[in-house]
Amino acid sequence: MCTEKTFIMIKPDGIQRGLLGEIISRFEKKGLKFIALKMIHIDKKLAEMHYAEHRGKTFYKGLIEFITSGPVVAGVLKGENAIKIVRKLVGATSPDNAEPGTIRGDFTINTGCNIIHASDSSDTANREIDLFFQKNEIFTYNLALEQWLGSK
Ligand code: RTP
Ligand code: MG
Repeated sequence: MCTEKTFIMIKPDGIQRGLLGEIISRFEKKGLKFIALKMIHIDKKLAEMHYAEHRGKTFYKGLIEFITSGPVVAGVLKGENAIKIVRKLVGATSPDNAEPGTIRGDFTINTGCNIIHASDSSDTANREIDLFFQKNEIFTYNLALEQWLGSK
């Protein structure tokens, strides 16, 4: 068993389309625990740090413009194998490959406006959590169910 933390960000289109509750609910219903959650309007500097790996790619400029175009909701989820499970719930980057039942598969046909970001590895998750959250914005609490599942 591997309890992990991962970072998610509901992008400006997710908020514009009224999908906040739907998306948060999917993670909760799966059994993942939100240990941080906030709305922010990312500035260009933070956007460039977050998406540094894509600097120089054809879609980079549009990606930075899009992610800074309106508020986003950033969160930290905790749970067993959270990184892989959250990526599965989010679905593939390309709308052609995003399966029905995933967030992207159910709600978008566009690669750029694809509703949500999720960390793709442990290193990325740690880096992104540190970028977006102060230590005092991340909470420690137990869910009653966890004593039976052995995951805290
Ligand atoms: P994200 O980082 O946002 O969770 O998405 P991802 O891991 O599934 O995909 P990634 O390769 O990291 O790409 C980051 C975001 O850039 C936009 N993108 N556009 N036009 C294109 O070919 C293209 N490729 C990527 C998407 O918004 C993608 O989520
Ligand atoms: Mg990515």
